Amino acid sequence: MKLLELIPQIYKYESFKDFSKEFNLDDKDLIFTNRFLYNNFLKELNLKCEYMFKNDYNVKEPSNDVIDRIIEDMKNKDIKRVIAIGGGSVIDIAKILILKDVTSTRELFERKIPIIKDKELIIIPTTCGTGSEVTNISITEIKEKETKMGLATNELYADYAVLIPELAKDVPYDFFVYSSIDALIHAIESLVSPKANSYTEIFSMEAIKIILKGYKEILEKGREYRKEIIEEFLIASNYAGIAFGNAGVGAVHALSYPLGGKYHVPHGESNYEFLIEVFKFYNEKNPNGKIKKVNKLLANILEVQEDVVYLELEKLLEGLISLKKLREYGMKEEDIEIFTDSVINTQQRLLANNYVSMDKEEIKNIYKKLY
Ligand SMILES: [Fe+2]
Repeated sequence: MKLLELIPQIYKYESFKDFSKEFNLDDKDLIFTNRFLYNNFLKELNLKCEYMFKNDYNVKEPSNDVIDRIIEDMKNKDIKRVIAIGGGSVIDIAKILILKDVTSTRELFERKIPIIKDKELIIIPTTCGTGSEVTNISITEIKEKETKMGLATNELYADYAVLIPELAKDVPYDFFVYSSIDALIHAIESLVSPKANSYTEIFSMEAIKIILKGYKEILEKGREYRKEIIEEFLIASNYAGIAFGNAGVGAVHALSYPLGGKYHVPHGESNYEFLIEVFKFYNEKNPNGKIKKVNKLLANILEVQEDVVYLELEKLLEGLISLKKLREYGMKEEDIEIFTDSVINTQQRLLANNYVSMDKEEIKNIYKKLY
């Protein structure tokens, strides 16, 4: 049984300039990023690289039609390496850009066309959330299906994951909170996954500790304090990525995808909706399994009794950013049934990683509670 796989080499630099020198960026490199990062960190370096910007495609979260357009625009460029600098969307798209002859992104995700790696990939995450720099997964909305799908295959691994804290400092507060909650969810879902083992648990537990300790400090010292501890959050997100890349994530992500797909709620924000309810459900359905480990860890960090850890976690997160009702995102009552079916039909890959099984009624109940 394989315990841990970590394919990308992991680097950290003080500045983008240091990275660009050490990696000898040149005209065979395509930097896929956003204009904000380009203007603030890259422009002054006058690199000879090719650039493509997410902003030119009006992308909030990736979708198959947009990726098709980007691939089309890349066709006549002679590129050896793709360097993705950005949040989850930029990284998810870049992972597809390194593949050969992708004639349709939808068919790629449906595994109807071969997956062949064609270029090197360097990922520089600028949000503390996805952990995508160390995973082999790309997530995109498939427009025709009104949901998100994941493609997980080793060809999507980056060759290098590079952490540069200065690039992550200016992320607005809300994005910081939602993306780091996503990292927390990666850590906690992977910790109770049936695929977890003593190696992945080290990364899960350390990520949970760093993130929750950071949240407590931010609540104490104010929002701006996040900038001082951004490096710790980048590392925690990376740890969580290693954990979930190996042990997987489950129901929180599964229930979140229809909401993201249909109402375009960003990934971290959409996941935040389901975190507490899913773990309360887990804890009620089987309080005596692996979840005891989570409860003990949370009780230690939050300095409370184990029987109130989810209430306390809820309070801590609410202190950072308040949780909305699902209907506030535009969700309709009839969507409860539609979303439940969508989870059952399209998210079995994730439901297999649940701490306990979840049937149709149980999924529906969670949507109802949050509606
Ligand atoms: Fe996630």
